[in-house]
Amino acid sequence: MARHTKLILMTLASGSLLLAQNDPGPGRGPQGGGPVRGLAGLNANELAWFNKGVEIFREVDSVSGTQPGAAGRGLGPTFNGNSCSQCHSQPVLGGTSPRVNPQVGLANEYGASNRVPDFIRQNGPIRVVRLVRKPDGSPDGGVHGLFTITGRADAAGCNIPQPDFAAEVRRNNATFRIPTPVFGAGLMEAIPESTILTNLRGNAAIKQQLGIRGRENRNGNDGTITRFGWKAQNKSLLLFAGEAYNVEQGVTNELFPNERNETPGCTFNATPEDHTHVDETGALESISDLTALMHFMKFVAPPPTNPQDPSAQRGAQAFTQLGCGMCHTPTLQTGRNPVAALDRKPVTLYSDLVLHNMGDVLADGVNQGDARGEDWRTAPLWGLGARLFFLHDGRTQDLAEAIRAHAGRGSEANTVINNYNALSAQAKQDLLNFLRTL
Ligand code: HEC
Ligand code: HEC
Repeated sequence: MARHTKLILMTLASGSLLLAQNDPGPGRGPQGGGPVRGLAGLNANELAWFNKGVEIFREVDSVSGTQPGAAGRGLGPTFNGNSCSQCHSQPVLGGTSPRVNPQVGLANEYGASNRVPDFIRQNGPIRVVRLVRKPDGSPDGGVHGLFTITGRADAAGCNIPQPDFAAEVRRNNATFRIPTPVFGAGLMEAIPESTILTNLRGNAAIKQQLGIRGRENRNGNDGTITRFGWKAQNKSLLLFAGEAYNVEQGVTNELFPNERNETPGCTFNATPEDHTHVDETGALESISDLTALMHFMKFVAPPPTNPQDPSAQRGAQAFTQLGCGMCHTPTLQTGRNPVAALDRKPVTLYSDLVLHNMGDVLADGVNQGDARGEDWRTAPLWGLGARLFFLHDGRTQDLAEAIRAHAGRGSEANTVINNYNALSAQAKQDLLNFLRTL
C-alpha cells in the first residue's frame, strides 16, 4: 500500500475513533456503594429477617468453622467461593463480581494447594465453570468446582485432585458464568406466570417484524415457569440459595443434603451441615441459614437509578424505538402477595424473564431445562449503572461490546442490532448514557 493511502486510512481511523461512542463506565451517582437496603415498606419483623439474612449472606465458611474469621461450617470438599458475599458484592452486598477477583487468593487460602486456572484473573470477573461434555462425549452441563479443600489446615488427610481445567479449555469443553446480582430478586419472584406469558405474547406484530420470538423455560416436574439464572433454569430463590450453598461453597443443606463429592477422608461434618435448629425456640434462632438467605434475597431492594440528563433521555427513546424493550421489558407487575412490600408492585427489571435464541456468538453448548446452548434469559438491565462485567461469561467490560455480541448466526436480536449499528455515533452514545442510569 502506498504511504499516501496509509496516511489517509490512519486519519480516517483516528477520526472515527474520536466519533466512536464510549461506555461512560460504572459507579457514578447513587449506585456507587453504601450499605445494602431492604425494600421500601418492610415492617419491623420483615426487617429483622432481612438483617438476619444479611448476616448469613456475609458469613465466611471454612471446613469445620474453625478457621479464624470463617466461623461458618461446611466449606467443600469442592468449592468456587467461601461466602455468598464473596461473589455477590459489587457495588454492595447482593451484587455481582467485584473489581478484584477474590478467587485468586482463595485458591491457596489456609494452606490449600489449588492451582489458579488461566481464566481466573486478578482483574477479571469471578467465574464458575460448566463442562459441556463428559469424558465419554455425553452431555454434561454441570458446574465443576474450581477448588478442593486438599492441603487446607482444616482438612488434614484429604486428597482430591483438582480437575485439569487447562485441558478442558484446550478441548473447548469449558464454559463460564459470572454471578448475577440478586437486588430486587423478591420482586422478580413475585411476578405471576400469567404476567410473563401475557407480556411474551404482547406486541406480536412488532416482534414478528423484528424476528423476536422467545419462550419460557419450564420445570420438568411441575411444569411451571422457571426464571432465575442466566438460562432461567431455576424455580425459586429458596432453590437457588440451596443449590448455590452446596455447589458454590460445598455447604450441604435441607434442599441439597448430600456432599457433591464423598471421597473418604474429605468429609468432615455431619450432613446436612446447615439445618433448621429444632432445639432452639425463637424463630430467628431456629431458622436454617438457607431460610435466612432466602429472606435476604426476597426482601432486598432493587438497585437505585441515576438521574437522566437530556442525552440519557434521548437514549431511553432509542432503546424503545430500536426494539431493545421487546426483550428487555422495562416493567412487569407483581401479583397479590402476602408481603405488603411485594404486593402488586411495579418491577423495573428490563427483562421479560424468558429465553431467546441469541445466536452462535453467545452459545455455550449447555442445555438446562428447555434452554439449549444458544438460549439465554433476557438479562435484567436494572443495576447496569454499577456493573463491571457483562454477558453470561463476563467477556467484556464495555457496554457497546455487550450490545454487539447480541448479533450472530441465528440470533433473534439481529434486526435490532442492525438498527443499532446504523445509529449515529451520538445516538449510540445517548443509548449507552441511558443504560448507565439504570
Ligand atoms: C463462586 C461464586 C458464587 C458464590 C459463592 C455464590 N454465587 Fe450466586 N451466582 C453465581 C453465579 C455464577 C450465578 C449465575 C449462575 C447461572 O445462572 O448459571 C449466580 C446466581 C445466583 C442467583 C440467581 C439470580 C438471578 O437473577 O437469576 C441467586 C439467587 C444466587 N446466585 C444466590 C446465591 C446465594 C444465596 C449464595 C450463597 C449461598 C450464592 N449465590 C453464592 C456465583 C456465586
Ligand atoms: C432478542 C432479545 C434481545 C434483544 C432484542 C436485546 N437483548 Fe440485550 N440481552 C438479551 C439476552 C438474552 C441477554 C443475555 C445474553 C448473554 O449473557 O449471553 C442480553 C444481554 C444484554 C446486556 C448485558 C447485560 C448483562 O447482565 O451482562 C446488555 C447491556 C443488553 N442486553 C442491552 C441491550 C440493548 C441496548 C438492546 C437494544 C439495542 C438489546 N439488549 C436488545 C436479549 C436481548
